[in-house]
Order: sequence, then structure tokens, then C-alpha cells
Amino acid sequence: MGEMKKRYLGTNLKMYKTIEETKVYLQRLRELTEDLPQELLELFVIPSYTTLEAARQVTKGSRVKLGAQNMCWEKEGQFTGEISPLMLKEVGVDIVEIGHSERRHIFGESDQEENRKVKAALEYDFTPLLCVGETLEQRNYRISDETLSTQLKVAFHGLDRNEAGKVWVAYEPVWAIGINGIPASVEYVSARHRHMRKVLVELFGEDTGSRIPILYGGSVNLENAVGLIRIPWVDGLFIGRSAWDAENFNKIIRRVLEC
Ligand code: PGA
Repeated sequence: MGEMKKRYLGTNLKMYKTIEETKVYLQRLRELTEDLPQELLELFVIPSYTTLEAARQVTKGSRVKLGAQNMCWEKEGQFTGEISPLMLKEVGVDIVEIGHSERRHIFGESDQEENRKVKAALEYDFTPLLCVGETLEQRNYRISDETLSTQLKVAFHGLDRNEAGKVWVAYEPVWAIGINGIPASVEYVSARHRHMRKVLVELFGEDTGSRIPILYGGSVNLENAVGLIRIPWVDGLFIGRSAWDAENFNKIIRRVLEC
């Protein structure tokens, strides 16, 4: 039997769940996953800002890592509506999600902004979870790989190998995400992950480039999780809707760990 690979499994709760609902969810997830081997699973939840304080209390001393859905690159200033790295430090998050497709496409964030956020997250010792992915239009023009190369190259710009090695990447094709998302085929996901791995190795060398985890996200569910995690270039799954019920998330986690 080959060496067991560490799996990265997490969920972004988007703009769902109140403080009370988040507490109940996390408490249940904590109980359900307590027995799972620590070294084989990196488990994380990214709830909304207003729940973070309460979420920290519920997850304290547990294996569940906590993330924020976005962050400003400045530590303070005249940036109404933004949340600073210092504020996230204070509340105690581990991960900062950067450039989710909804941030890029609904709120118009650019690759340059994601780069500033990645750098700020590293400066404050958070794990940046950088999300990348092509739109349906880009896929139809057959420029998915080019799009991913650009997003990765700009977001990682100016990082040395040591810094790059601390980043996690989530590949989420925009057309595969959410209620209207069309699940991507295993072949398609495999080809894109392989390409992204190549780009990261080109940028940072074999050692670092092959170590940066690349997660897959977009309509992941109990049925397709196994097929996706078996792709050699997929290090984990970043799940939306199917993970928002703790019992179902736990089922997915256990299936993946059995692979
Ligand atoms: P989904 O969301 O699993 O509900 O498609 C994925 C995401 O947006 O990260």
C-alpha cells in the first residue's frame, strides 16, 4: 500500500447561517469528526464574519480550522465595509479565503487585488486560500489553461518560495459552482489540475511547486467526491452546498478518507 496522502477538506458557508446556526453546525461537525486521524485530514470551515467570534469558541481545541471569506490588504484606514488583517488576527482565524468566484465576478475583484491580499495574509501569518477558475465564456474560447496561468501568476507575483509554499489553492470553475452549476467531468478537472501543478512548479521549482495543495471545488457532493479525490493532482475538496449539513459533510469526509 502506498503512503497515505493528507487530504484538505473544507467548506465556505457563503452568506448563509446565523450565529446560532453556525454554532450548532460546528458543534455537530466537531463531534462527528473527532475520531478522525489528525495527520491525514486538514478540515476547515469558513463562516461569515459576524459568526467568527462564536465559531472560535465552539472550535477551540478541536481539529476544525477556521477561515474568513475575504480580507482587506490594509491593516487600517478609510476603507468602509472592509475587514483588516488585525481584526481577523484578534478573532483568531487560521485561513483567509481570497478571490472566490463570487468576489471576482459579483464584486469585481481583480487579479492584482488578490495578489495584494495574498501578500497581506502571509504577512499576518494566515494561510491564504487562493481561489481561481475560468468562466464559461473562457472555457468556450478554450482559454481555461491560459486563464488559470494568468490568475496564478498574478496572485503569486512577488512571493519567494518559502512564502509560496504556505499558500493553498482552490480551483473552482465558475460554471460549476452553485445552484446553477454544472458539475465538471473528472477528465476536465484532471487536465486543469495537471496544468496548474505545472505552472506552480515552473514558478517555484519542483520542491515547492509540487507541495502547494490544490483543492477542487464546484458542485462537489457525496456521489462525485470519490471520483474527484482520486485524481492524482487533486489534494482536497472545497465544498459549498453539500457540506452545509454537518451529517452530510461528515459522510463526504469519511468517503474521501477511505480512498
Ligand atoms: P458549491 O459551491 O459546492 O455549492 O457548488 C462551491 C464554492 O463556491 O466554493
